[in-house]
Amino acid sequence: MRPTDTVSQTQPPILVTGAGRRVGLHLANRLLDDGQPVIAHYHRESGGIEALAARGALTLQADLAHAEGALALVDAVRAQATALRGIVHNASAFTTTPTEPVAAAAMFEAFFSIHMLAPYLIDTGLAGLLEAGGTETPADIVHITDIFAENPRPEFDIYCATKAGLENLTRSLAKRYAPKIKVNSLQPGPILFKDSHTPEMRQRVLAETPLGREGGAEAVYRGLRALLDNDYMTGTAIQVDGGRHLAG
Ligand SMILES: NC(=O)c1ccc[n+]([C@@H]2O[C@H](COP(=O)([O-])OP(=O)(O)OC[C@H]3O[C@@H](n4cnc5c(N)ncnc54)[C@H](OP(=O)(O)O)[C@@H]3O)[C@@H](O)[C@H]2O)c1
Repeated sequence: MRPTDTVSQTQPPILVTGAGRRVGLHLANRLLDDGQPVIAHYHRESGGIEALAARGALTLQADLAHAEGALALVDAVRAQATALRGIVHNASAFTTTPTEPVAAAAMFEAFFSIHMLAPYLIDTGLAGLLEAGGTETPADIVHITDIFAENPRPEFDIYCATKAGLENLTRSLAKRYAPKIKVNSLQPGPILFKDSHTPEMRQRVLAETPLGREGGAEAVYRGLRALLDNDYMTGTAIQVDGGRHLAG
């Protein structure tokens, strides 16, 4: 855990997990563009996290594949901030399920922790800071899940099942924390391909996507912005997927 800066005391920050690269990095940068202070959680060092620190974000390292990492992150945030405007759970791991059972078991435990246990420990551990914001407007918890949580792909079954668990936690926590905290999910579809996506895979995915293109991280930011700016939405999910959830 390595704090690299202090949090602005003028406006409560938003904690973004997995902010070191790709979508999480874009969300953190766009929030900073809005004048919104950010606590940027990261796993492995990256140029992106250094750039966020240079822009004034507080950066905190934690491995969320174990409960200890999530609890240490909660302690570190509590040590640095007296209130939070929101938490965006972006950290995630995405791979196909191995056929060998010991490897599948290890992956299941890690994915359970990253996608379900860590969000649960962070949300429950930091709910007091979210409630301490002191405004009429509710604070926000946003779980970034996946359209696969509703319509799973068998080869990604552990990923899909643990993201589906996070969807269910979204509804529980929305009930638990209303009216002071809204809890919603964003379900991305084909936002940013990974290097592991072959040209054939990309072509197939885009053929299944009515809007016919990769969405880009800005589409997720706009979904996040919609949730942050609407104080009458809780316990709901927004699909940001170019319509791919309509594919069979
Ligand atoms: N990209 C898409 O098209 C797409 C589609 C559907 C859903 N989503 C969801 O949208 C979100 C962002 O997508 P993305 O493609 O940007 O995700 P990504 O490239 O897989 O990055 C996820 C982030 O999670 C962090 N992370 C991984 N393992 C971790 C661990 N053990 N402890 C703490 N952090 C860890 C990564 O940090 P390190 O790299 O340092 O490990 C990275 O910053 C994810 O929740 C993903 O499931 C994305």
